[in-house]
Amino acid sequence: MIVAMDGPAGAGKSTVARLLAERLGFRLIDTGAMYRCVALEGHRRGIDTFAAGAHEQLGEIARTLPIDFRFLDGLNRILLAGEDVTEAIRTAEVSKAASEVSAVPAVRTALVDRQRILGAANDCVMEGRDIGTVVFPEADIKLFLTASLDARSRRRVVQSGVHASASAEVTREIADRDARDMGRAVAPLRKADDAIEVDTTHLELDQVIDLVLGLVTARRS
Ligand code: DC
Repeated sequence: MIVAMDGPAGAGKSTVARLLAERLGFRLIDTGAMYRCVALEGHRRGIDTFAAGAHEQLGEIARTLPIDFRFLDGLNRILLAGEDVTEAIRTAEVSKAASEVSAVPAVRTALVDRQRILGAANDCVMEGRDIGTVVFPEADIKLFLTASLDARSRRRVVQSGVHASASAEVTREIADRDARDMGRAVAPLRKADDAIEVDTTHLELDQVIDLVLGLVTARRS
């Protein structure tokens, strides 16, 4: 069974997808982490996304980079060629670069192929932006998590521990990322017609989990 979970940055997707996968005993596949790994590797190799020839180089990285999802000591870890990069791929710099490389067609083609192989091998919760629209249009259930820009920004401030005075900056970053993710030519972020929209603005985490577990369980039976 494939549970596709899409939505904008900060809607609670990662946490909800992780808890949902745990409760269902499904594999969790965080596709954003794959784009982040490509961005990190591109940065380490000094590739400027906008330079001539960069798209081919980034596409090659996306095709060949050894990316592993491991569950170690009770935590989901991301390994890049054996190196644990779980924290390194979460910096603001990599977030911005990931959003940029995710607009490169060669990167998307390569990662979508890899995601289809990963998803076909296991029952999984696959989290991203285009899972229900492009990667698995035939997913058993499609969930689209949203929340207001304000709520998403507030959560990000609490999560990342930045000072509340930086909240305007965080809001701007999220809005910029939304614009890039929704505005790009290839596989822009959008709700699939048959996806169920879950607006988490006024819900606590356990309410969201109960709601999505109920939806998946109903679909399973
Ligand atoms: O979910 P995230 O913030 O870790 O994603 C990082 C970037 O990758 C984000 O800008 C959107 C992009 N992305 C994408 O284009 N398609 C996906 N399936 C997953 C993420």
